[in-house]
Formats: sequence, structure tokens, C-alpha cells
Amino acid sequence: MNKETTRVTCPYCGETHESQEGLKGHVFKTHKGRGLPAAEGRIKLTINKAEHIFQVEPNWTLYYLIHDKLGLTGAKQFCDRGACGSCTMIVDGKPVLSCMVLAIECDGKSVETVEGIAAAGHPLIEAYVNNHAMQCGYCTPGFVVTSKALLDINQDPTEEEIVEALSGNLCRCSTYPQHPIAVKEAAGKLRAAK
Ligand code: FES
Ligand code: FES
Repeated sequence: MNKETTRVTCPYCGETHESQEGLKGHVFKTHKGRGLPAAEGRIKLTINKAEHIFQVEPNWTLYYLIHDKLGLTGAKQFCDRGACGSCTMIVDGKPVLSCMVLAIECDGKSVETVEGIAAAGHPLIEAYVNNHAMQCGYCTPGFVVTSKALLDINQDPTEEEIVEALSGNLCRCSTYPQHPIAVKEAAGKLRAAK
């Protein structure tokens, strides 16, 4: 379980600090001549159970904030146009395409990424490995995150329900037949652990 933390991210270099005061000191010292981050544009996100405060630009996507600024690089930007699902994250319990969501729209929300799912020891990770549900692996985090969102609301999905849930995730290596097998295996482990 992640420890609760609050961190403020420098908008100029991405370095994180434990308080706004710490950020101010850093900006004075390291980015002489740059303006102090304004309160406007500050958002609070809970990411994988840890609380973060960021100073964001209005055009930053959720993907850009979490992947490029926070450094959680599990989600992948394959198409950058809402067509492939490789950038999927769970926001307030629902899978979203993080390349199509503005970070500023997520203020106050809870975000779960593939790193959080792996750190929690979710059986999907092992099931994906056991069943070879990947080749190059570029699309895999998106499939895992979408599958996790499905299993959060349905721990005994049919093959049709899994295929339907994953219909927005594309794989150039054509690993499609393995995903329902892996998701069913993980679902069985979740039910057995109850
Ligand atoms: S990168 Fe976001 S949907 Fe393809
Ligand atoms: S495993 Fe290569 S794109 Fe899906």
C-alpha cells in the first residue's frame, strides 16, 4: 500500500517538492528570473493512492502530466487521438483515454495507473505473463488497465463481456485471443481470494 504523500511539481523542470514553500525556494534558486507558480492552475490528484499537487498548464493532457512530468511511464501514447487505448488510466473508477483528457479537468479526482495495479499485486499481472498475452508489449499496459476496470465491477465476466470491454484497445501484434484467457484467470483468482 502506498504511503500518502503530498508533492508539488515544478512547472519548469518537473522536480517534486513536499510543499509550496519548498517549490518557491527551488524556483528562486534554480530558475532565476522565472515567475513563481501561481495558485491558478494548481490541481490536486490522488494517483495510485498518493496525493499530489501539480501546477499545470491548461493544454496539458492527463497523459502528459503523469507520463512526462510525474515519470510514470507505464501508459503508452500510441496514436494520440483516442483510437488505440494504450494510454488508458482509471479515473474515479472508469477507464479513460488519458491522451484525450485535460489534466486540469481531473482536479480532485483519483487516478489509477498500471504501476499502481502492479504494485498492489493484482492477479492480472501474473495472468498476462502466464498466458503470453503480449508480444512487443507496447499495448499491454492499456489492456491491463482496462481489464482491471472491468474486474472492479464484474469479477465473473463472460468472454463476450471481456471482448466488449477491451474493444477500444488495439494491438498491432494481434495478441487478441490471449486477453480473455488472462482476464478469466485473474477473475478466478480474485473470486478465490474472497
Ligand atoms: S494514445 Fe490515447 S487512445 Fe491512443
Ligand atoms: S503486443 Fe505489440 S502492440 Fe500489442
